[in-house]
Amino acid sequence: MELSQLVVTQIWHITCYVSAIVFVSVAANLIYQTFFYSRNEPPVVFHWFPFIGSTVRYGIDPYKFFFECREKHGDIFTFILLGKKITVYLGTDGNEFILNGKLKDVNAEEVYGKFTTPVFGSDVVYDCPNSKLMEQKKFVKFGLSQEALEVLRTVDLAAAMAEITIFTAGRTLQGDEVRGKLTSEFADLYHDLDLGFQPINFMLPWAPLPHNRKRDKAHARMREIYLDIIRQRRNAATAPATKDMISNLMQCVYKDGKPIPDKEIAHMMITLLMAGQHSSSAISCWIMLRLASQPEVTEALYKEQVDALGADLPPLQYKDISKLTLHATVVKETLRIHSSIHTLMRKVKNPLPIPGTQFVIPTSHTLLASPGVTARDETYFPNAMVWDPYRWVDRVEVEDSSDTVDYGYGAVSKGTKSPYLPFGAGRHRCIGEKFAYLNLQVIVATLVREFRFYNPEDRKGVPETDYASLFSRPMQPATVRWERRNA
Ligand code: HEM
Repeated sequence: MELSQLVVTQIWHITCYVSAIVFVSVAANLIYQTFFYSRNEPPVVFHWFPFIGSTVRYGIDPYKFFFECREKHGDIFTFILLGKKITVYLGTDGNEFILNGKLKDVNAEEVYGKFTTPVFGSDVVYDCPNSKLMEQKKFVKFGLSQEALEVLRTVDLAAAMAEITIFTAGRTLQGDEVRGKLTSEFADLYHDLDLGFQPINFMLPWAPLPHNRKRDKAHARMREIYLDIIRQRRNAATAPATKDMISNLMQCVYKDGKPIPDKEIAHMMITLLMAGQHSSSAISCWIMLRLASQPEVTEALYKEQVDALGADLPPLQYKDISKLTLHATVVKETLRIHSSIHTLMRKVKNPLPIPGTQFVIPTSHTLLASPGVTARDETYFPNAMVWDPYRWVDRVEVEDSSDTVDYGYGAVSKGTKSPYLPFGAGRHRCIGEKFAYLNLQVIVATLVREFRFYNPEDRKGVPETDYASLFSRPMQPATVRWERRNA
């Protein structure tokens, strides 16, 4: 037989083997789904291929996927995400069940720790026992007190929202030394560290790939920068002029009487830089896109500032922010539809019966809550997909004091009743909410003072959502036309 004939035959054989394997595994998967499901486990979303399961449908548009599955299976169902069994429990009961689950039953660090630890660093957040995280959250929450936030005065505007949010966060949270570095080396380091949040790292955070090497190098350098700042502050005879998060953490003491080691302070500062940046910059982008598509709201915001602060619009002060209620509802409404965190996960640690059902969730499953589903639900928000900041004006949120709980970092809402939880609920609830609101309101207020925004000629409404990264954001191109007010 000639060599070329031999090669063709070999390829033909390989193709036959591969097709046979695919055929057998698809058939086995279909038989398994049809005949071997357990009535004590939630229904599994139909899928042709094992391992891949519903990964593609979920990855393209998680909300569409959740709503379609809810239509078919109700609030509780399981789907396959890259070979893992993910049990979704939607609705306010689902949020309560998952986000306020007992520590012995559900666990966040096993899901998030693998890809966040190389970015944030060791011994903080998901690389330490939950009780230590609760203490760390208490320290940081304390550092986000009104006194610390009052540092925020006026902001200079850069072109991109990501830059604006990191600049404002840098100035207020990170202290003067970091703010001074934001324009140069730090911005590159931030970019490289952020590569650690690529979706592939959900599976392969340890892989020796170029983006992970850059991530690790950036982490080491960033830690050095913070350690340097801490060392210099310890050596300086006088305390820094303004109190900031670093100085706050340098004074905090764990329950066992030990101060926070410098390495952990550095890692907590990196966490704070990374944790809020994605969500805040994506939301600020969506706000600008929404204002451009409804310019009358921009004018209403401008009028609100003139009425509340005077026609000469003096530089914004911390005390002014509470007077700007429409600004707050613009942020609130944008977070309702566009929050960039659509998926909150917990690993099941003990077989978990779901009250009122025959289901018991086995330990091989991961639970998934999506508070964004209730936020987009017509039952709670009529015309749910219409962006209407005025819907909040007369809306009274039911605040029930029996619905709060203290996990060790101050009282938080359990989230049992509210269909609106953009900052999560329970022990892992966001501690950056107050800061994020302030940051976003100041950015919006400053922008509408100076500019008017419009959609590009060829776009109606806002762009679609891009779910390709771990944090969703507007699909590119996401541009707005602008003009200066006093041009
Ligand atoms: C618009 C802005 C933001 C949104 C929408 C947001 C959303 C969230 C959500 C949904 C969670 C819960 C995660 C879970 O339960 O699995 C969370 C946790 C957290 N966020 Fe935020 N966040 C924002 C800004 C910030 C900022 C500015 C900071 C820091 C200053 C921050 C720091 C944290 C921390 C430390 C956690 C706790 C993680 C844990 O306990 O497991 N976030 N955030």
